[in-house]
Amino acid sequence: MKLGVDLGTTRTIVATADRGNYPVVTFYDGDGEAHEHLPSVVALDDDRLVFGFEALAAARAGAPLTRSFKRVLAAPDVTAETPVTVGTRQVPVLELLTAYAAALRTALVEQSSLSEELTVDSELQAAVGVPAHAHGPQRFLTLEAFRRAGFTVVAMLNEPSAAGFEFTHRRRREITRNRTRVVVYDLGGGTFDASVVDVAGTHHEVLGTVGLNHVGGDDFDLLLADLAAESIHQRVDDLSAPDRDDLLEQARELKEHLSPQTRRLTLEVAGTEVGVPVTAFYGRATPLVEQTVDAMGPLMGDADDHVDELHDVAGIYLVGGASGLPLVPRLLKERFGRRVHRSPLPAASTAIGLAIATDDDAGYSLRDRLSRGFGVFRELRDGEAVGFDPILGRTDVLEPSGCRTATRRYRAAHDVGWYRYVEHTDLDEHGGPTGDLVPFAEVLFPFDPVLRDGRDLTRVPVQRRDDGPLVEERYTLDEHGIVQVRITDLDSGYSQVHALRADG
Ligand SMILES: Nc1ncnc2c1ncn2[C@@H]1O[C@H](COP(=O)(O)OP(=O)(O)OP(=O)(O)O)[C@@H](O)[C@H]1O
Ligand SMILES: [Mg+2]
Repeated sequence: MKLGVDLGTTRTIVATADRGNYPVVTFYDGDGEAHEHLPSVVALDDDRLVFGFEALAAARAGAPLTRSFKRVLAAPDVTAETPVTVGTRQVPVLELLTAYAAALRTALVEQSSLSEELTVDSELQAAVGVPAHAHGPQRFLTLEAFRRAGFTVVAMLNEPSAAGFEFTHRRRREITRNRTRVVVYDLGGGTFDASVVDVAGTHHEVLGTVGLNHVGGDDFDLLLADLAAESIHQRVDDLSAPDRDDLLEQARELKEHLSPQTRRLTLEVAGTEVGVPVTAFYGRATPLVEQTVDAMGPLMGDADDHVDELHDVAGIYLVGGASGLPLVPRLLKERFGRRVHRSPLPAASTAIGLAIATDDDAGYSLRDRLSRGFGVFRELRDGEAVGFDPILGRTDVLEPSGCRTATRRYRAAHDVGWYRYVEHTDLDEHGGPTGDLVPFAEVLFPFDPVLRDGRDLTRVPVQRRDDGPLVEERYTLDEHGIVQVRITDLDSGYSQVHALRADG
């Protein structure tokens, strides 16, 4: 069975490839009600972790519930062991994610529109999405969790790149020989991504990507809940956990049903009814939406300087549930003035695109970009200073089948090589990393053969050497955007390989 799996911050949506169609999978909750998603939530039911609809049911009966655990993956310093709080338990994020993916598998086999076709032993070939600007550890942990849960991961795609496939598929009758460019604007529950995709038939090339790892629909819920609480001089953080959850749930519900005619929203804060004018909510939400619009600047070209680039873009394609907020198309039109279309299935667009990616017969192909830069800080001058070397740039192309490599050679000037790897958003004019900086691996390599006895190199003071070996660093970037380095002493042939990820 071929599946596109969009693990969202709030909802997990699955689509399948079925003879050129890509239907969204229906999941049934405990009452037999149909939903086109599995909630991305976990609860602690007595001593057992439960997921999805079972977790929501447990929460209604009083069990502690944790939402949006995907956000933990986006933290700059995430490792497999990073704890996620679920009630009284601290669960390592990889363990939690693996258990969630296993629960998704069980739900597909037992309680979904695919159940009749699946058994516990069925092979599930999945294309899995990640936010476009996801850093290496986030990609690695996502891939690892699905593999451990028994999925065969056939591809990992950036979410807006997958939505680009859905855009083309939807318009396949209109496709001409002409190339078009589309900007995919994806505002989900917890993340914002936008990509410019050059579409030539079924071949897609991502020309650029921007993203914000911490802006999404969850934030709008919080803004609205804050406004409601403030109106009776309370703070959301001071409410009891059940009152807070209840208020956020009301906020989400109201936000999802806003129409251009809505004037006033009524919420209940710990038993007290309060009214919030929609204009107050929009006032608070505007800066957040503007952040996403500002972030698109580099993709759209500065309106005055790059008239040609602007001219090239056919339209902006809105996907992701939170792009349903009427403010979003309004602010986009104000800023860019071009045609803004919303996907008819905004929440499922990514999952459908992922399902298309699993379908060899559909003939879609993709050239994507790394979207984050990658480089290394290293010791200079007896460890008194550090220098930064960019290794891969954020616009470097990700090859769908195979690897990209980068190589550096130099004569070692110290007895120990101390490499601190980081991912970054961009480089400043001096070649230093800027933006979101994610330190995610440290490698110590013994240049001096005497030190190659397995000792703890962190305890060896770095010293200058004039007779160091010739060293080669060879970086390979696989199709999932994960980097590996092989460091070799070319004089003796001694080498080490390190997968560069947060937990070493
Ligand atoms: N009509 C609507 N108007 C405004 N917001 C909406 C609407 N429908 C859904 N949302 C919001 O969209 C968000 C969920 O969107 P989506 O399902 O695309 O996110 P996700 O895939 O779970 O998250 P992410 O892609 O960030 O990981 C929620 O915050 C939800 O409240
Ligand atoms: Mg999403």
